[in-house]
Amino acid sequence: MTKPLEGIKIIDFTHVQAGPACTQLLAWFGANVIKVERPGSGDVTRNQLRDIPDADALYFTMLNSNKKSLTLDTKKAEGKEVLEKLIRESDVLVENFGPGALDRMGFSWERLNELNPKMIVASVKGFSDGHHYDDLKVYENVAQCAGGAASTTGFWDGPPTISAAALGDSNTGMHLAIGILTALLGRDKTGKGQKVAVSMQDSVLNLCRVKLRDQQRLERVGYLEEYPQYPHGEFSDVVPRGGNAGGGGQPGWVLKCKGWETDPNAYIYFTIQGHAWEPICKALGKPEWIDDPAYKTAEARQPHIFEIFKTIEAWLADKTKFEAVDILRKFDIPCAPVLTMKELANDPSLRASGTIVEVPHKKRGSYLTVGSPIKFSDMKPHVTASPLLGEHTDEVLVGLGYSQQEIFNLREIKAV
Ligand code: COA
Repeated sequence: MTKPLEGIKIIDFTHVQAGPACTQLLAWFGANVIKVERPGSGDVTRNQLRDIPDADALYFTMLNSNKKSLTLDTKKAEGKEVLEKLIRESDVLVENFGPGALDRMGFSWERLNELNPKMIVASVKGFSDGHHYDDLKVYENVAQCAGGAASTTGFWDGPPTISAAALGDSNTGMHLAIGILTALLGRDKTGKGQKVAVSMQDSVLNLCRVKLRDQQRLERVGYLEEYPQYPHGEFSDVVPRGGNAGGGGQPGWVLKCKGWETDPNAYIYFTIQGHAWEPICKALGKPEWIDDPAYKTAEARQPHIFEIFKTIEAWLADKTKFEAVDILRKFDIPCAPVLTMKELANDPSLRASGTIVEVPHKKRGSYLTVGSPIKFSDMKPHVTASPLLGEHTDEVLVGLGYSQQEIFNLREIKAV
């Protein structure tokens, strides 16, 4: 099957998570992604959190599938020469080094554009160019704090909280992938490459836009009716942390199910969607609430929403999270069990759809990873193992026209 990005050559000058998540996605969709790594060590995640001695860590294998690995010391003149050849025949270069690292290496945007005016140069940084923090190196949690996620996540009586979802890293990589694909379409029209830059702060903030909505509402009316602080608690002049409250116009909460005393994940998320009020009352055996003025409208329910959640928890007390959802789904109530990583790893539906995939690896045996969350009618992305360090160095160099003797010489001086 021909994949849409076949024929697109990408220099993957990325490391850790944000950049690799982007290029992995493009590799799944058919791009020829060549990961350029420092000889001897490579991407730092090859060694981080190892579970098998001498085998690449899952941190690396789960973010670098379907790629090739070329080792190259791009600080040596010979390494730069190889990189320049690669640049001349590539469509995209993706990087997420610390601020200024690419310039210090001698590959500024101007130089790259001179070497290959058709190439798209895509960068992830912590903060956007010109921002007063644009000199900072940034990791995931720093971005979650800088992008507004931390101040609005968690409970009001606890500290700002980090999400387990990689809002700073993988999310920024997904934004960058959209930018690259857009620039490739643009190049079809103009024949020119361009620089695509995404900051982690901006990407987190983009996902927190409803909180900026709430800040403006708060400033206008002084309260936020869907937050647990309403109507009994106090609001300050900034959007508070709302615990597990539903983010939009649908009140919701995480509710205890049978076994919660011993199982920390025996919970469901329950949403009281306005038009589902009647089925909710029927499911709970509370038909009298349907027309009761104290319950009938969302506005009437809000002041005693936690009393309603308590009633639902009483109903849930003798049902597991799975039993509860199986009943509630019949009433068209938006809800889900709180699923653990173990449950997700073994979920037959996720296995069947290719969202959880088992990948054979030369050194590790097979490992589980998250496959493409994007499904196509004409293409099923196939996940292959991440490359060993330098696995494709010879192949790439031969493709660039180097002879075996020249490759040997580059090895002797540790440039590859
Ligand atoms: N050959 C020779 N040198 C290489 C090389 C290669 N193949 N690949 C990288 N290097 C060098 C770089 O040129 C740089 O050298 P310099 O600082 O002397 O100029 C150095 O390796 C490391 O760069 P840096 O990216 O700053 O690494 P770090 O480990 O200090 O910082 C981050 C890591 C993630 C904090 C930083 O890269 C960063 O802020 N990136 C942007 C934001 C980001 O993507 N963060 C999320 C990561 S998930």
